[in-house]
Amino acid sequence: MNIRSKIIGTGSYLPSRTVFNKDLEDLLNTTDEWIQQRTGITKRHWASKDETTSDLALRASERALESSSLKKEDIDLLLVATVTPDHEFPGTACFLQGKMGIPGVPAIDVRQQCGGFIFALSIADQYIRTGTYKNILIVCSELHSRCLDLTPRGRNLSVIFGDGAGAVVLQATEVKDRESESHILSTKIHSDGAQAKELWCPGPGLALFGEERMTKEMINDGLQYPQMNGRAIFSHAVRTMSESLIESLTSNGKELKDLELAFFHQANRRISEAIGKNLELDDSLIHSTVEIYGNTTSATIPIGLDDAIRNGKLKQGMLISNVAFGSGFTWGHSLIRY
Ligand code: ACO
Repeated sequence: MNIRSKIIGTGSYLPSRTVFNKDLEDLLNTTDEWIQQRTGITKRHWASKDETTSDLALRASERALESSSLKKEDIDLLLVATVTPDHEFPGTACFLQGKMGIPGVPAIDVRQQCGGFIFALSIADQYIRTGTYKNILIVCSELHSRCLDLTPRGRNLSVIFGDGAGAVVLQATEVKDRESESHILSTKIHSDGAQAKELWCPGPGLALFGEERMTKEMINDGLQYPQMNGRAIFSHAVRTMSESLIESLTSNGKELKDLELAFFHQANRRISEAIGKNLELDDSLIHSTVEIYGNTTSATIPIGLDDAIRNGKLKQGMLISNVAFGSGFTWGHSLIRY
């Protein structure tokens, strides 16, 4: 039997508070013009004080389950990708599971940053292909707004990120015709830990100060906030996502002309534009939400999928490639017949 994974439902949730670039100007000593020119972002959503990452995840999960017509009790495995967990431990998947009320189901956190969705999809796909699980819920949820340095010191990063969650429900399906039936054709994931400190959050951390994982000095120095070498990220993101998109096609005997829609991890619009230019992709092939949601790290691709499905842009039978690059470094692809 040729058992493959199929996406049977998607959902997303963006918190109700919209933060425009103008709202950040005084806070971060920045301008709407700078943000738009360098990132393409015009606004983003920020969670309210009583919302957590697992709350956003719960909303997206409920919507994905509703669109799949499954009940929460049908889920065999719960995977949650996040770079902004509710707590250091246990994982956010456990907190989400508690809120969903599905005890006994394995709940796993995936900590691959902006690559989180592709890594989670790859893990889920292996479990489905081996017949271990039938229905898997993947949720990518990020609450950056309470993790950023919201002073001028942090402006290079704090203008980029937004809060939000996206979820997909995968189901095992027997595929007879690989050219027409909905399924995941392939996933491929990569990492390069030698580049870990090009984009990272140093604290709290055991490798910082020897005896203590958190000190006043660490907080004074702002080591609890993410740090980035923006130019290194830009060039690696463009190269690895371009290579991953080509890899997604060639490893399945396909060519660029077969591609019907592409979903990139949307770090910022200039990165997506550079990939499009590299590969000579028509703009209409790249689905983009970064302008209105900002960079929601692991959640950008599932939010984009849900957005494209609900807007009628992504239709059944279309061949789509998802590619991501993130801190770690981590990167990879999934090629899907939707
Ligand atoms: N507003 C105004 N000025 C700013 C801001 C801001 N928000 N941020 C930085 N600047 C200033 C700097 O202070 C610096 O000024 P100076 O020349 O007087 O010293 C100048 O702009 C250039 O600073 P750089 O950090 O060198 O900015 P750069 O031109 O590299 O642009 C950016 C920053 C947009 C982040 C760019 O590096 C980039 O696009 N990088 C890609 C990385 C990225 O998008 N990461 C997203 C998260 S990672 C991920 O999702 C995988």
